[in-house]
Amino acid sequence: MPSGDRRPALLNFASDNVWGASEPVLRALVDGNAGPLPSYGADPLTRRLADAFAALFEHEVAVFPVATGTAANALALSAALSPFGLCVCHEEAHVIDDECGAPEFFAGGAKLLGLPGTGCKLDPERLAATLDGLPRHEKQMPAEIVSISQATESGVVYRPEEIAALSAVCRARGLVLHMDGARLANALVTLGCSAAEMTWRAGIDILSFGGTKNGCLAAEAVICFDPKLARTLGQRRKRGGHTLSKARLIAAQFLGYLQDDHWLANARQANAMAGRLAEGLRHVPGIRLAWPTEANEVFVILPDEIDRRLRQAGAVFHPWSGRALAPETTVGPGESLARLVTSFATEADDVDALLRIAAPSGGIGT
Ligand SMILES: Cc1ncc(COP(=O)(O)O)c(C=O)c1O
Repeated sequence: MPSGDRRPALLNFASDNVWGASEPVLRALVDGNAGPLPSYGADPLTRRLADAFAALFEHEVAVFPVATGTAANALALSAALSPFGLCVCHEEAHVIDDECGAPEFFAGGAKLLGLPGTGCKLDPERLAATLDGLPRHEKQMPAEIVSISQATESGVVYRPEEIAALSAVCRARGLVLHMDGARLANALVTLGCSAAEMTWRAGIDILSFGGTKNGCLAAEAVICFDPKLARTLGQRRKRGGHTLSKARLIAAQFLGYLQDDHWLANARQANAMAGRLAEGLRHVPGIRLAWPTEANEVFVILPDEIDRRLRQAGAVFHPWSGRALAPETTVGPGESLARLVTSFATEADDVDALLRIAAPSGGIGT
């Protein structure tokens, strides 16, 4: 952007979904809007999208586009859950904490069981011990699926070998492994691996593929690597009110998103800005990083005085729960844990403006 056109620095680090859609996605949406096309997913854009996902994942896939991440997660989990089944996830996972019981509702009564774990990661040994310790009587709900988030709700990423270790625990017990990929793109660019290596090659059976946080307006998809899991998803999606008659508009967003690796470029920008922010904040006296910054979210333990100064200057970010902190990381009196999220639209000037407020005399972020 020419310097004369620069926008003023913005201090909104509340979430990646506070931003609208990126230009290529909007252009694709306008293109996909033209003319009459068959409805309910029988349009050529939705067919092209299925091919695009098959190519991206190097695997045959069944694709169910929806408009929200909660719908994608609830549908994906319901594909493997009986009404009396149990889904095991992290105790701070979005599926258990932030979806108002949608997975249980979509599965007709199932339950979610949350496990502790640093950085919102599931640990294979704890998972195996939990699963093996569940009572096996008809009075108790059997575990049927395990769900992990990539990146996690603490902004760290599972390496493919960590996913494979969890998958081994699941496979040995006949359980399905789901990935909530609301921030899959951010994790992919961090690790530099392929979408296939991150998912089915590591043992993921079903994926919620996110687009909204990284440049789409409202586009998410359930991706089934195991065709058995796709069997009832069409009906479940319709019954849940998530089958769009103008399905082409989700497909159009995704096509613009995936074209020329635009989605990866977006994620790279978001991650780079998070890295810059983390590096700057780490050097401000009194501030500590709560977890390593591995995607586009920065978690910091902030002295109250800095928190107040940032908010008074108009910075927007959320306080966060410390349940997934490592035992040795503590939030002391006069401090709080905060989450700052960057996106494809965050610019270096935004980050530097925040850093200057955090450390007014520190020469940080210049
Ligand atoms: C880990 C995770 N999963 C899924 C979602 C999707 O949620 P929504 O239903 O708001 O699109 C979010 C959004 O905050 C998230 O952080």
